Amino acid sequence: MKYNISTHPVETSRLSTIDFDNIPFGQTFSDHMFSADFINGEWTNLQIVPFGDLAISPVNLALHYGQSIFEGMKATKKLDGTPCFLRPAMHSDRMNASAERMCMPTIPEDLFLQALHELVDLDKGWIPPAVGSALYIRPVMFAMDAMLGVKVSKTYKFLIVTGPVGPYYPKPVKLLVEDTYVRAAVGGVGEAKTAGNYAASLYPANRAIEQGYDQVMWMDAKEFKYVQEVGTMNIFFVMGNKIVTPATDGAILKGITRNSILHILKAKGYDVEERLVHIDEVVESYKKGELKEIFGTGTAAVIANVSHLKYGDLVMELPPVSEHKTAIMLKKEIDGIRSGEVEDTFGWIEPVKSVVNV
Ligand SMILES: Cc1ncc(COP(=O)(O)O)c(C=O)c1O
Repeated sequence: MKYNISTHPVETSRLSTIDFDNIPFGQTFSDHMFSADFINGEWTNLQIVPFGDLAISPVNLALHYGQSIFEGMKATKKLDGTPCFLRPAMHSDRMNASAERMCMPTIPEDLFLQALHELVDLDKGWIPPAVGSALYIRPVMFAMDAMLGVKVSKTYKFLIVTGPVGPYYPKPVKLLVEDTYVRAAVGGVGEAKTAGNYAASLYPANRAIEQGYDQVMWMDAKEFKYVQEVGTMNIFFVMGNKIVTPATDGAILKGITRNSILHILKAKGYDVEERLVHIDEVVESYKKGELKEIFGTGTAAVIANVSHLKYGDLVMELPPVSEHKTAIMLKKEIDGIRSGEVEDTFGWIEPVKSVVNV
């Protein structure tokens, strides 16, 4: 179905004020945003408007009780200049899975995709051309009812904002195995991309930073023995000739980059396993000299090499990043699929449709 999205362009673009060589993550936003309201059981007021502040009631339900979900995705340019998305429908599916878990309305996939194409087509000048840079896209939906009381909101706002970004982790990351706090338990909301998961991560993350680490590695909520994930990334271990990643068990976010990496590894014939990963297995592999690489995967970071992993008193130092052959190959593949240098055999690339008439 084609939706009627009205477009209200800015009078003067801010694009000429942006230095693409100096764009810290999440601090610069493009000229426009998509906005829609869920009222009386349907999505309405579909529009693209100048990026700007909203008026929110002090008793907005999302502010108090956390009915808020989001996605994170990227548009990049191929070497020939074509703006593209990578697997956008998967982000639509995950947004809707998060919505269902949080008792929020789903967004029809064709509305999500049409809004995305029209918005990014209008602001395609904001996509930085350099490989590794991108237009980060943040769809977000939150409750809009104005009242107090823990209940499911009847009204919601759905926005898509975008902004240019450079590489997320310019350096390899140091991880600390978290043995006191948990991100998510099976049966909780760990699989939903909902705001509260990130709020819960801040205190442990700060403690890790105080100890000189970049992120915590989350462990299962029952025994603190099985690896879950890291900050905003899923995690992979190269132990001997095997590549192992924790199976998604309901407490781990089903990363779309994780899924792409698994497809690439399997297609290239690597020995890859999704299963429970016990921390003792990682330690043992390190002690035998078989822990070759650890890397995180996520839309923002793409592939982040890990240089150190601390568990209790043991600091495991990984081989130099130049020897992380798997991570280097995977980063090249994903960047190459996006730039057009690697053939898109999986059919993941979707060029931004030129649809906007303003
Ligand atoms: C908690 C968490 N885990 C993993 C990921 C990686 O997911 P994706 O590859 O879809 O970006 C993210 C980022 O969205 C995240 O927030």
